[in-house]
Amino acid sequence: MAKIVRDPLVADYIVEHDVKTEADCSEVRRLYEEGCLVLLRDVRFDLDYPFLNSLNFDVEGPADIMQRVKKYGGHKILALTPKNTGPLDQFVFQNVFGSDAGKLSYFQEQVRSGNAQSDALYARLFPNYVSTRAMYTWRFTETMYEDLHWDVFGIEEHFHQVRIFSNLAASPRLWRVSHRSDEFAERVYRDAELRRFAGSNGDDLLRAMNKSALYSKTPCLDRQPKHHIAFAQGDVWVCETRIVAHQIYHGERAFAAMYFSEATTMDRPELAFEARIKRVHDRLASGETSAPLEPAI
Ligand SMILES: [Fe+2]
Repeated sequence: MAKIVRDPLVADYIVEHDVKTEADCSEVRRLYEEGCLVLLRDVRFDLDYPFLNSLNFDVEGPADIMQRVKKYGGHKILALTPKNTGPLDQFVFQNVFGSDAGKLSYFQEQVRSGNAQSDALYARLFPNYVSTRAMYTWRFTETMYEDLHWDVFGIEEHFHQVRIFSNLAASPRLWRVSHRSDEFAERVYRDAELRRFAGSNGDDLLRAMNKSALYSKTPCLDRQPKHHIAFAQGDVWVCETRIVAHQIYHGERAFAAMYFSEATTMDRPELAFEARIKRVHDRLASGETSAPLEPAI
């Protein structure tokens, strides 16, 4: 189970919860909509962890190919066959799977199983949500020292994001998480001139905050207080990454599924990301003084 070190200067929005009963699911959903990072205490995807840990995607190769291996997501893995002739596919088949068709096929079985188990969990936790599409990421290259950020997807459509994560690596996946975007936006609204984004997509505001308020010239020197979380192998957690500022400090193998969900089907649509950002603009664009940052829960 994850080890969590909380910083009192950041709202305590990390919650551990069971998913045994309907009431548990309903509470997890309530917490998720509130903007909490919820660690699902009794959930573990049934996968072949020793096999998954035996795969090595961090192989030597030309820089342009290695850059694309990093993004070799779930759909590409599932479409890979020994007969694929593209240079990237050939590279992955030869260097990651050792040209072993059986090994590739077993990995694809694991990917299909993980995707299906995640779909079932999503349906259980959010039975009334209508999802328009899902994306699956099997990130098996090492990630280290990301800058603190809120995710910016560059997608015009408004949607409620449900993101389910799992650490598949034997080593802990280290996250640091900081302020939630709407709370932080209130604090820096005037200095970061966020009023210019009133009426535009919430992504634009996040991009500006990432750039002007969090990034420094030296990586990781954002100067924000953070909670520290070390997710153990098999841990499963849910987190809206446009709301929770996060940085992966270190991680080796992870699976994440992203469900684009209709905000109108939430229990409380007013808590959707776009609605939160709109509320900040409504409150502050008129020139009202920025509110102090208070722990929310
Ligand atoms: Fe991110």
